[in-house]
Amino acid sequence: MAEKISVLLSEEEVDKKIRELAGQITGDYAGKMPHLICILKGGVFFMTELSKHIEIPVTIDFMSVSSYGDGTESSGRVRIVKDLDESIEGRDVLIVEDIIDSGRTLSYLMEMLKNRKPASLKLCTLLDKPERRVTQVTVDYVGFRIPDEFVVGYGLDYKQMYRNLPYIGAVVQE
Ligand code: IMP
Ligand code: MG
Repeated sequence: MAEKISVLLSEEEVDKKIRELAGQITGDYAGKMPHLICILKGGVFFMTELSKHIEIPVTIDFMSVSSYGDGTESSGRVRIVKDLDESIEGRDVLIVEDIIDSGRTLSYLMEMLKNRKPASLKLCTLLDKPERRVTQVTVDYVGFRIPDEFVVGYGLDYKQMYRNLPYIGAVVQE
């Protein structure tokens, strides 16, 4: 089935928001060196842009997880496909994610990472769909709260496609 993509958030809106978030993070972490953890693959476009506008030193690492599910639903059973390269003990960790939907993936991940004893652990997401929340998760930085629509672009995929769109679009089935 073909699908159409309609622009929900333009490239300019996304860029502006990312600069705002980077400014907040720069202020909040003054005197510290946040360790940014990107959740692959969706978080990668957001994390690179965000980190470029943070005006204090940062370090970065990557983690890849798979949430068993039917493709558009996560189940909460999270498997680590690629773990972090470095220890996070004593570090100021900021998880960078593309979108929080049910919250299952992130609530599981946050618990797991807490056990590794970081000095602090916060969460930054480009998009949040609060209506869809099933599991409570504290989000410290949110780019945009969006309605319950399936979105693509800026790292987000539909069947692995559309990650490279420079804007956020909603998928419309034809
Ligand atoms: P959660 O565990 O339900 O919060 O799932 C979060 C993950 O599901 C995100 O990191 C995305 O990979 C994926 N996801 C949730 N909503 C969307 C969407 O609208 N478009 C693309 N991927 C999504
Ligand atoms: Mg994701």
